[in-house]
Amino acid sequence: MGPSGSGKSTLMNIVGCLDRSTNGKFLLLGQDVSNLNDEELAHLRREVLGFIFQTFNLIDRISVFKNVELPMVINEIPRERRKEKTVELLKAVGLGHRMDYNPLRLSGGEKQRVAIARALINDPKIIIADEPTGNLDLNSTHDVMRILNELNNEGKTIIMVTHNPEITENCGRVIRLRDGRIIEEAS
Ligand SMILES: Nc1ncnc2c1ncn2[C@@H]1O[C@H](COP(=O)(O)OP(=O)(O)OP(=O)(O)O)[C@@H](O)[C@H]1O
Ligand SMILES: [Mg+2]
Repeated sequence: MGPSGSGKSTLMNIVGCLDRSTNGKFLLLGQDVSNLNDEELAHLRREVLGFIFQTFNLIDRISVFKNVELPMVINEIPRERRKEKTVELLKAVGLGHRMDYNPLRLSGGEKQRVAIARALINDPKIIIADEPTGNLDLNSTHDVMRILNELNNEGKTIIMVTHNPEITENCGRVIRLRDGRIIEEAS
């Protein structure tokens, strides 16, 4: 948590290996990633991390099914396995009946649930979520948080930015930022 401009997204981009730190060291699962090249970073992102964004970042021209399947296409997973996994994940987020829809026809909460299914497709250890409920109404916020809490209980690490103090009640650890620095760490 932290005010606008305090560096939350910047920190998430470093943790997510989308950006590099100018100073200091960042260890991901014990490994210093600062010397890895772009290809090695892309590999880490695909294998270890899943991303969820405030604005969902779905591709509107292809179906919900294809949006979720896409990371597996990139990872060259065989078609049958892709289908099985995509259906399983979409059912798990309660969208088994929306697979053929275009994302433009979904509500914000449904879009974010598609994005969660997509983030899970390569079974990441860590999910990075930058204000995942920032554009959602109260009910959809609860749906998304329930799913993220379940994933956390199953052993996944969720690193999330939020402006909503209510949400932090279920978090194992809250880190506060101000002017690019960690100012307080509560447990
Ligand atoms: N690509 C960039 N190059 C230079 N400065 C940047 C870049 N992106 C962000 N900044 C600056 O870094 C600071 C932190 O920005 P950041 O986006 O991490 O904030 P934030 O905490 O996520 O804010 P918000 O709550 O509004 O999303 C801001 O002063 C911002 O203007
Ligand atoms: Mg931000």
